[in-house]
Parts: sequence; structure tokens; C-alpha cells
Amino acid sequence: MRLDKFLTDAGVATRTEAARAAREGKISVNNIIIRKSGTHVDPVCDKIIYCGNVVTYREFTYIMLNKPEGYVSSTDDPKSPNVLMLLPERLRRIGLFPCGRLDKNTVGLLLLTNNGPLSHKLLAPKNHVEKKYRFRVSDVLSAEDIDRLESGVDIGGYVTAPCRLEMTGENEGFISITEGKYHQIKLMMSAVGTHITFLERVSFGPIELDNSLERGSWRYLSENEQSLIENAMR
Ligand code: URA
Repeated sequence: MRLDKFLTDAGVATRTEAARAAREGKISVNNIIIRKSGTHVDPVCDKIIYCGNVVTYREFTYIMLNKPEGYVSSTDDPKSPNVLMLLPERLRRIGLFPCGRLDKNTVGLLLLTNNGPLSHKLLAPKNHVEKKYRFRVSDVLSAEDIDRLESGVDIGGYVTAPCRLEMTGENEGFISITEGKYHQIKLMMSAVGTHITFLERVSFGPIELDNSLERGSWRYLSENEQSLIENAMR
């Protein structure tokens, strides 16, 4: 594999940045400075250092984004800014896409990856991966509303699967669902006569939103989180 492809796939540099770093003597392979970014490397066995950092080969990239309001998850709406715009240029070229969608005004945990098969499994309804959201609604939820939401409500010809609510106040709490219908939580709340005024995803399967990550910021999943998510679908 070419050294520049290795570095772009790893998301650490664009091809141009890799070529410049090589010319400037900032890349070494097995402790030898390499000045040509087209040099052939072994992605698994070679020790590659880019600007002082060891770059480990990973077939796939996994990113945790704390989605802010105002960004759409899909890339096919040319009128609105999309979540990929929150990533640096080098990470926009490696085929990352959001694993599931959050509405434009929903905030919180969004996973991005270029592992298509894994994303597909995480989103497949039959795998019942749990998504937990912090919510606030415009009206007080009664015990009966909570019962109805937990048992399943009709959201326009479809009855939702059982879910869990933990109330932290009379009009706010957490809701955990295992499905991902379009506008599901908003429609569920409408079905009991109220509406969502705030919605934040706080976990997706085994991955929890990192509270130290500011809205609009991202980080790579840790080794542990990557294993958790890969093993969850084995
Ligand atoms: N349910 C919704 O209504 N919106 C989201 O963004 C996610 C779940």
C-alpha cells in the first residue's frame, strides 16, 4: 500500500499534506525518514510515524460526534449544513457516514464510521440496539401517559415496541427505545398529546456520550469503545 494512501485512510492527513510532510522529513517508516509519499509500506508490520505520532493501521474509522442543533445527518440536503462539515477536511474523504439519523434540532451522540456492514447491523430492527435519549416535553406526563408510551403507541399506522422511561421531573426524563422510526420520539410524544421541546441522544448500544465533548466536537472512539461496538454485533 502507498504511504500516502495509508495516511489518508487512517484519517491523519490528506494526500497533499502527506506529500508535504514527507518532503519536510516528518515521516519515518521503521525509523528511517521517508521523503517520497508514494513509497510502498506494509500497513500492518511497518512502524509509521507521522509528525511525531505513531499511526496504527485500522481498517475502519469510528468517530463520536456531539451533534449540535442546526445540522442534518444526511448529506443529500444541499440547503442545510450537515454533520460531516463538523469534521476536518482529512476526515471528509474517507467515506464516513452517520450511523443512523438525528433530526436537525436533536443534539448529542452521533456515531460516524466507514464500516458499512457494522453500521447496517447496528441499525437493523431485528438486533434491537438500544438508543437512550434525554427529553423534555411541553406538558406534564401523567402515569397513564408513561404507561401508554412504555407499552407502545400508534404513531400513524405503526404501533411502537415496548420501551422504557425514567422520569427526572414531571415533564422530563430519559427514554430508551430499540427502534429507529423517522421522528419516532416526537411522534410518540404527540400520540400522548404533548410535544418534544428538547431531545438529546445520550447512548447508542454500549457507547455513551462523552460528557467532556462539547457540542459540535468530535473524537475517535477509544480502543475499548471500538471493541465494545464491534463485539456487540458478533
Ligand atoms: N426520535 C426523534 O423524534 N428524533 C430524533 O432525532 C431521534 C429520535
